[in-house]
Amino acid sequence: MPMQPWFTDAKLGIFVHWGIYAVDGVQESWSFYDDIVPHDQYMSQLDRFTAARYDPRAWARLFARAGARYAVLTSRHHDGVALWDTAHGDLNVGRDLITGYADALREQGLKVGLYYSHSDWNHPDYASTRKPGRPPELEDNRYSEVAAEFEDLQAWERFLAYRDGQIRELAGRYRPDLMWFDGEWDRSEEQWRIRELAALIRSYVPDCVFNARMLGEGDYATPEQGAPVVPPEGPWELCLTINDSWGFQHHDHNHKSVDQLVRYFAETIGGGGNLLLSVGPREDGTIPEEQAERLEGLGDWITRHAEAVYGTVRGLPAGHHHGPSTLSPDRRTLYLTLYDAPRAPFGVRGLLGKVRRATVLGSGTELGHRVVGGLHEAPGVLWIDPPAAADLDPHATVIAVELEGELELYRGSGRF
Ligand code: GLC
Repeated sequence: MPMQPWFTDAKLGIFVHWGIYAVDGVQESWSFYDDIVPHDQYMSQLDRFTAARYDPRAWARLFARAGARYAVLTSRHHDGVALWDTAHGDLNVGRDLITGYADALREQGLKVGLYYSHSDWNHPDYASTRKPGRPPELEDNRYSEVAAEFEDLQAWERFLAYRDGQIRELAGRYRPDLMWFDGEWDRSEEQWRIRELAALIRSYVPDCVFNARMLGEGDYATPEQGAPVVPPEGPWELCLTINDSWGFQHHDHNHKSVDQLVRYFAETIGGGGNLLLSVGPREDGTIPEEQAERLEGLGDWITRHAEAVYGTVRGLPAGHHHGPSTLSPDRRTLYLTLYDAPRAPFGVRGLLGKVRRATVLGSGTELGHRVVGGLHEAPGVLWIDPPAAADLDPHATVIAVELEGELELYRGSGRF
């Protein structure tokens, strides 16, 4: 599938990990899988999950204020608890929490993403097979696989029928613009029947976007938590937590600052990616203030610099400018991000064409600039005067460099 332009233009999405794990504030699914929380205790959260103050319109307004153009909600994590009143399987929250979310996002003009875990560590038929080639000496986890001699292919077929039933509900009812799969590592592409799964979803939503955990059917790379040093070539999305947890955990106050979030964001979009920033609502559906504030802070920065954000393409590769940059879709304006206040003119290397103007995005103040040096095919260095203190953004200042033609870069090492 060719990538949907809305996705690459969007730049920011909000990931929402919401589930029964928010009741006790334990790690989503992994806490029982890894025997950190007894299974019974983990599952007892289902009866105590209230969603009592769930206001999806407030979520959607907050996400729009953050500058996001889409969101992704955990419709069913590895623990198998569905957030909608599914007719398949035994585990769900007893009502439909997804319709309100999808409608509210669409009211705000945001695209609707649904996270769905391939793996389901609670389904009675799930741990009925193992991944081909899984070394027998590895300790098997009772929630995810069985030893080769206990494989039960009929049970696996039942699991897939359950999975397909849920997928039909999700795709048919909510028509997601994006399906964000996870948990693919437990089985092979053939065991998941990825091709058939993609076709099933596309029979409802022909242009649904898939992340890379849809394996051969994935549309974009899905780096998680670690910011890439070399940006992936094609479309990609960095998923990142605001603190250190995906879901709500009371004790985790290790939130990234707005400054840091702006930096993650600028670097991600500069490398041609999207940032999928995760919030963990409490069990009642409210988003912790510490997270909401940061989303708003990031949103303020994005609003001030929207021209350098939405619809842009990846900017200069490393080595040309000290910081990230983006490029306008017509490739004639470069947006250079400055994290710190330059003390002196700052240099940009390797620009082959002429520069028409350099201005501070926002104030529009024009900055002096000149090209110095250069020999034969190696262009000189473009020196741009530092912006005045009054023109500096508290988080990161963006300089728009208008070029006479489309961006052309010199990537050589000079003349020897
Ligand atoms: C991991 C984890 C999961 C989390 C996801 C988000 O794959 O299994 O808990 O939802 O990453 O990317």
